[in-house]
Amino acid sequence: MERVFVAGGTGFVGRALLRALLERGYEVRALVRSRRRIAVLPEGVKPVLGDPLRPGSWQEEAAACRIGFNLVGATIFRRWNESYKQLIRDSRVLSTRMLGEALAGGEGRVLVNASAVGYYGETGEEEITEECPPGKDFLARVCVDWEREALEFQKKGLRVAVARFGIILGVEGGALLKMLPVFRLGLGGAIGSGRQWFPWVHLADAVSGLIFLAEKSEAEGPFNLVAPGIVRQKEFARELGRVLKRPAFLPTPVWGLRLIFGEVAQVLASGCRAVPRKLLALGFRFAFPYLRQALEDLLRKKHGGRL
Ligand SMILES: NC(=O)c1ccc[n+]([C@@H]2O[C@H](COP(=O)([O-])OP(=O)(O)OC[C@H]3O[C@@H](n4cnc5c(N)ncnc54)[C@H](OP(=O)(O)O)[C@@H]3O)[C@@H](O)[C@H]2O)c1
Repeated sequence: MERVFVAGGTGFVGRALLRALLERGYEVRALVRSRRRIAVLPEGVKPVLGDPLRPGSWQEEAAACRIGFNLVGATIFRRWNESYKQLIRDSRVLSTRMLGEALAGGEGRVLVNASAVGYYGETGEEEITEECPPGKDFLARVCVDWEREALEFQKKGLRVAVARFGIILGVEGGALLKMLPVFRLGLGGAIGSGRQWFPWVHLADAVSGLIFLAEKSEAEGPFNLVAPGIVRQKEFARELGRVLKRPAFLPTPVWGLRLIFGEVAQVLASGCRAVPRKLLALGFRFAFPYLRQALEDLLRKKHGGRL
């Protein structure tokens, strides 16, 4: 059985990745920051205690694996001050460095690292492929540093693939779970003008995309991990309202979001028309390319088969 190591496996995407890796027959080791978090791991995963931001004995467990995934990152969905901004950056950059160092040196090793379409910053109507240049805002600069750290390990013999995720839709965490109560009350709607692009991806495709990047020997460099059926944010709101059978016409002003979230409001109000050009070119097939089908699937899961 092939061994894989996952850092960030206790998170929303990480837990789904661990389940999918077990189903595919991998022997899975996952880094946990505290004993308390072992309980969130699916049965069959070997927990490895350690701090992903610091060197430690956990790196020996990682070194015994050919494939490493890094999904570590302090959440961006809370108010930022300067020290929290430093944590947003350090948790991503240092975890990448520590896992890369553990994997480097072996034969045929692969690092699959998370990133985000936030790399591109605010890009308006332009179609965004992997070749487009980075933005200049804080999150774009974090993504640049995060990816540079990962791609440096190509020089040390690792194959490195970076997943630039869009907004990952699932019902066990992430943005959709936060939006559902508001939409259920019929209080959902466009953010600002709602014309901004909303680069989404179903959690199942986010996870199978990560595994595809690990298994496909030609997969190198950055990949937009977003559904091909991108929509504008107001279409997303309308579709979510339709699937929930609730009105979704109440616009949320950006200043209101800023009061609640601070700087991160800009992430929700600005968009990026990202397309998964490299993934499609390598033959990756999305199980959920279109939003309606993705939302129906997710909300059916949440309600035991009923919508
Ligand atoms: N979800 C999305 O829509 C989305 C979109 C674009 C990019 N991404 C990126 O994809 C990755 C996974 O996202 P997610 O939604 O699964 O995130 P999540 O649920 O917040 O999980 C984050 C993971 O990072 C760990 N972590 C958080 N703060 C840490 C710190 N200060 N030091 C060490 N470890 C820390 C958590 O460990 P504990 O469980 O111990 O807290 C957890 O394993 C992140 O890097 C995120 O930026 C996600």
